[in-house]
Amino acid sequence: MLKRTKIVATLGPATDSKESIQSLIEAGANVFRLNFSHGDAQDHINRAKRIRDIARELNTYIAILGDLQGPKIRVARFKDDKIELIKDAQFIIDVSLDKEGGTINSVGSSYTTLPQEVSTGDHLMLDDGRIQLEITDIIGTQVVTKVLVGGELSNNKGINLKGGGLSAPALTEKDKEDIKTAAQIGIDYLAVSFPRSAEDIHLARQLLKDAGGDSALVAKIERAETVNDHDILDSIILASDAVMVARGDLGVEIGDAELIGVQKHIINRTRELNRVVITATQMMESMIHNPIPTRAEIFDVANAILDGTDAVMLSAETATGDNPAKTVQAMANVCVGAEGQTLAKTSNHRIDINFELIDEAIAMATMYTANHLTGVKAIISLTESGSTALWLSRIRSGMPIYALSRSIETLRKVALYRGVEPINFDPTALARHDVNRLAVEELRSRGYVKDGDLVIITKGDSMGALGGTNAMKVVKVGAVN
Ligand code: G6P
Repeated sequence: MLKRTKIVATLGPATDSKESIQSLIEAGANVFRLNFSHGDAQDHINRAKRIRDIARELNTYIAILGDLQGPKIRVARFKDDKIELIKDAQFIIDVSLDKEGGTINSVGSSYTTLPQEVSTGDHLMLDDGRIQLEITDIIGTQVVTKVLVGGELSNNKGINLKGGGLSAPALTEKDKEDIKTAAQIGIDYLAVSFPRSAEDIHLARQLLKDAGGDSALVAKIERAETVNDHDILDSIILASDAVMVARGDLGVEIGDAELIGVQKHIINRTRELNRVVITATQMMESMIHNPIPTRAEIFDVANAILDGTDAVMLSAETATGDNPAKTVQAMANVCVGAEGQTLAKTSNHRIDINFELIDEAIAMATMYTANHLTGVKAIISLTESGSTALWLSRIRSGMPIYALSRSIETLRKVALYRGVEPINFDPTALARHDVNRLAVEELRSRGYVKDGDLVIITKGDSMGALGGTNAMKVVKVGAVN
């Protein structure tokens, strides 16, 4: 049983060796995430090289996603590294305080405009919402608060404003440097943290281009104001190639109760707009230390799959956890289980919409036929850029979609698309009349189809022409000429 949902695994100290990267691939990882919040440029360059080498050895296509740190707003440091905040005590965030000088009474922050951007009565959520403060006064550089929920607070923990609204620009100076590294590595996806609007994505794309890169762009949806306004969300999705439901910061800002529906909306809308979607954060969190997931985690992953996500993501589980490969394997098992459900295979994707593009219309007709004609076992999509495979995979289905391309970049990119398997195939190197037969032979030789199965092929009039798909053909394996 082929796993359709893709797994994004974050690399870190627990998965630096060649052997561990290989074990993650064998367990079901399709995309590796390099987290630019940790490590220096050389670390990422080395990791990326290792991934490329291993993928080549294993003869498989793995995408690399570089994740920019973005303007995460944080408290500075404490003299004793951490403090214990007591409920109802007064605690001050003072943006002029020495950055090493935090005490039980106050702490600094490099986000110097904080006092101007908040108001009395606002709630600040520290350390992913574990600590909550209510603002009681603002005096010059000091944001005076009362502790609502106390606990341990240590160096550099994040600050969120409940309800959102802190306006730090999405791309920091560090991000701009990391974009150059990303371009140098030749990553496949670049993730932008905390985008406020489509402009932030356009800017990242431009900076990447200026640095000589051309990877696909991922918008991490993690600010309350981008999900509270449907037009802003749509424009961010349309400006991007993929989005990530970044549940950590988003959940803190809007509350987990609200997040349940928001996750469904983002996934649904992203697919409707023909973009790709990743669901992230704390999916298998307990497996950082435990050998098996909790039932709640299994259901959380399954729920995202039934929502229609292309990919599910692991963070600390594979970067620093005790059981990286076991976690990927456990997640892969959940994927296959959830994908078998009827809900995961039935679709009303763009049912009321007119298509403007011939190739998109062909993709829709192909998928409809594949889902309804008895005997169809696979779709072969000859693709240059991956577009035809992307359209096909927006429709929920149990049908495997084989993206046959001569472009290595395309093969890596489609590794993120749900239900799509990359296969290296160059139709331009073949005589026209041999293309269908040899494409089907690629699948048969791998054991994906057998004589008598029906396969649908999509392609255009000229071989190797991007955007040219204008035909679907149903063929029988063993009888193709
Ligand atoms: C390959 C096929 C063409 C087809 C094209 C579609 O190059 O040989 O016949 O038109 O893929 O590529 P696209 O990037 O638009 O999916």
